[in-house]
Amino acid sequence: MIHTSLALPIDRRFFLRQLSAGAIGLICVSGHRGSALAADESRLLVHSKAPMNAEPPLPDLVRSWVTPVESFFIRSHGNTPEINADSFRLSLEGMVEHPLTLSLAELGRFEQHAVTATLTCAGNRRSEHSRVKPVKGVQWREGAIGNAKWGGARLSELLKKAGVRDSAKHVWFEGLDSVDDGGKTFAFGGSIPLEKALLERDAAPGALLATTMNDKPLTADHGFPVRTIVPGYIGARSVKWLSKIVVSDRPSPNHFVADVYKLVDEGTLLEVAENAPIYRMPLNSAICSPSAGTALKSGRVEVVGYALPPGVPGVSIRKVEVSGDAGRSWIEAKLTSPASEFCWQLWSAEITANSATKELIVRAIDSRGEVQPETVRWNAKGYLFNAWHHVPVN
Ligand code: MTE
Repeated sequence: MIHTSLALPIDRRFFLRQLSAGAIGLICVSGHRGSALAADESRLLVHSKAPMNAEPPLPDLVRSWVTPVESFFIRSHGNTPEINADSFRLSLEGMVEHPLTLSLAELGRFEQHAVTATLTCAGNRRSEHSRVKPVKGVQWREGAIGNAKWGGARLSELLKKAGVRDSAKHVWFEGLDSVDDGGKTFAFGGSIPLEKALLERDAAPGALLATTMNDKPLTADHGFPVRTIVPGYIGARSVKWLSKIVVSDRPSPNHFVADVYKLVDEGTLLEVAENAPIYRMPLNSAICSPSAGTALKSGRVEVVGYALPPGVPGVSIRKVEVSGDAGRSWIEAKLTSPASEFCWQLWSAEITANSATKELIVRAIDSRGEVQPETVRWNAKGYLFNAWHHVPVN
C-alpha cells in the first residue's frame, strides 16, 4: 500500500460496490452520446459532435488543479461505443506465459491505486500551428488538456500475473471504438515501451488501467468501463474503451501508432515510415486569463494559466515567467498548485499594464533548467505546439 498525496491506494471494494450498486450499469445503459451523463456541451466548446471533440473555455480550465469531468476535453477519433458492463472482458495476450481474460469484477480484485495525472492531446494548440500554415485536423486552442485523479489497477500487476516473456519489448492497447479513415474501419490503438509499462514508482506507475475518474466511474466519452492512463505520455497512448492488451517485441502496427502520432515536416509516406511514434508530452504553458482581445485597464492585472512538465520521470516545473513588454522583462509567477512530475501546475502573476501593453507572454522552465522554446518548427500534423504562449490584449 502506498501513501503519498498523489498516489493513494483506493479501496478496491469501491469499484465492486459501484458495480453492485448498479452505478456502472447505469452509465452503460445511458452513457452514449446525447445522454445526461455524456459530454456536458454547455461547458465545452464543441469542435465536432460525431466524433465528439470538445475543449473547455480557457478561464474555466484553470479554476481548479483537478479538472471537473464536465470541463475535461474530449478527443475521440470514432464513435463512443456502448459497452455492456456484464459481458465486458479485457484480454491480455501475446508474448506472455498465461494469457488473461478478465471481467470487470476480476479487474477490480487487483490492488486499486489512485494517480493524479495530466492528460493532454498531442494536437493541443494546433490552431497556433495553423496560423503559420494551415494544418488539417481538429483546430484545438489551448484547452486540450486536463488533470484528473484516475483510479484502477496497475498495468504492471497484470503483466506480472501473465508472465512476460524475455523477448517482449512493447505493450499494445486496443479500444472498442471503430474509426473510419482512408476507406477503412478499424479500432483505435496505442502502444508503449515495456519498460514504461513495468514502472511502479509511487508518484505515478508507468500505466494504470483506470476505471474511475475523479472518484466516479469513467463516463462514456472518457472511456467507460476501462482505459489506460499513461502519465507523462501524449493522450493518444491512453486508450479509451480498452478491450485488448498485447505484449509484443515491436510497437503496435495500429494506424495511430504506425502512421498518425508522429512528427513529420510534410507528411510524405517515407517520412512517416522513418519517424518514431511520439510518446512524451512537451514542456508547455498557456495563459488562460485574461482572454485574447481583453481591454486591460492601466494598473495591476492578474494573469493566470497552466504549465506542463515534459513527461520525464522526476522532472517538474521549476518556474513560470510572464512578460507584458514583448519579452524584454519577465515577472516570476506564483505556482499555486502542487508540483508533480506528470501533472500540470497552475500559476498566477501580477503585471502592471499601461497603454503600451499589447500582449502577454508566458514561458515555463522545468526542474532541469530547460526553457520552453520561443518558437517551434511547423509540422504537417500539427503536434506538440509548445512555443511561448502569446495573448494579444488592448
Ligand atoms: N482511445 C480510443 N479508443 N479512441 C480514441 O479516439 N483518443 C486518444 C485517447 N484515447 C482515443 C483514445 C486521444 S488522441 C486523446 S488526446 C485522449 O484519448 C483523450 O482522452 P479524453 O477524451 O478522455 O480527454
